[in-house]
Amino acid sequence: MDLIKEMEERRSTRAFLERPVGREKLERLLSFATRAPSAINLQPWEITVVSGEERVRLSRLLVKRLRERNVSCAPGAKKALPEVFVERQRGLRDVIFPNLPENTPFENFINEGSCNFYGAPTAIIIVIDEIFSSVRLTDIGVLLGYLMLGAHAMGMGTCPIGLITAFEDEIKETLSIPDQKRVVIGVGVGYPDPDASVNRARSERAPLGDVVKWRD
Ligand SMILES: Cc1cc2nc3c(=O)[nH]c(=O)nc-3n(C[C@H](O)[C@H](O)[C@H](O)COP(=O)(O)O)c2cc1C
Repeated sequence: MDLIKEMEERRSTRAFLERPVGREKLERLLSFATRAPSAINLQPWEITVVSGEERVRLSRLLVKRLRERNVSCAPGAKKALPEVFVERQRGLRDVIFPNLPENTPFENFINEGSCNFYGAPTAIIIVIDEIFSSVRLTDIGVLLGYLMLGAHAMGMGTCPIGLITAFEDEIKETLSIPDQKRVVIGVGVGYPDPDASVNRARSERAPLGDVVKWRD
């Protein structure tokens, strides 16, 4: 495996085949992903793997609540974003839009698609106990990176779904996750649909000069 190549190639998958991912493969993936480092090796993550009928039931609930509450994928900022970030958000929209089937409204595709894990046969829900402060979310971010790259290296696709955190209470209730856990992120996992043009959309990145400062 060429890790640099995997990093270059990985992208979010927004159309999955129905083909399920077997338990053994998911276990291998999770055993690689949980090799992720964490501060003081705390491994503060807790992971629920949802497949089959349970996955369908979860998505049905999320889509229902989405329609009732009119929630939308948002940057999670405390105040209005400076133009540079608005521009990046617009850039993502611009690369996805031309790759959607004709007459597909973008917001619907993203919001309902997210609640449906874009049809992925498995949804992975990562939570953290509320005993931990927000600095421990860094550990979850590292785990997420390992999970996405590991899945890609194993021939699968993933899409992280932050939108589901808007439905934290419902998720905890339906999956019997205790009250004192915080839902941090969901991830759709499965096999990318090779015929779906949306899976060919490649998001851009800011030039290094915009995000890196050198001091020497
Ligand atoms: C923490 C996090 C939350 C995300 N939440 C969503 C989401 O709710 N819905 C979605 O379609 N994509 C979501 N994404 C995917 C991002 O839009 C995507 O990673 C970004 O546009 C870069 O594209 P790439 O993954 O194809 O490189 C999320 C990504 C991250 C890291």
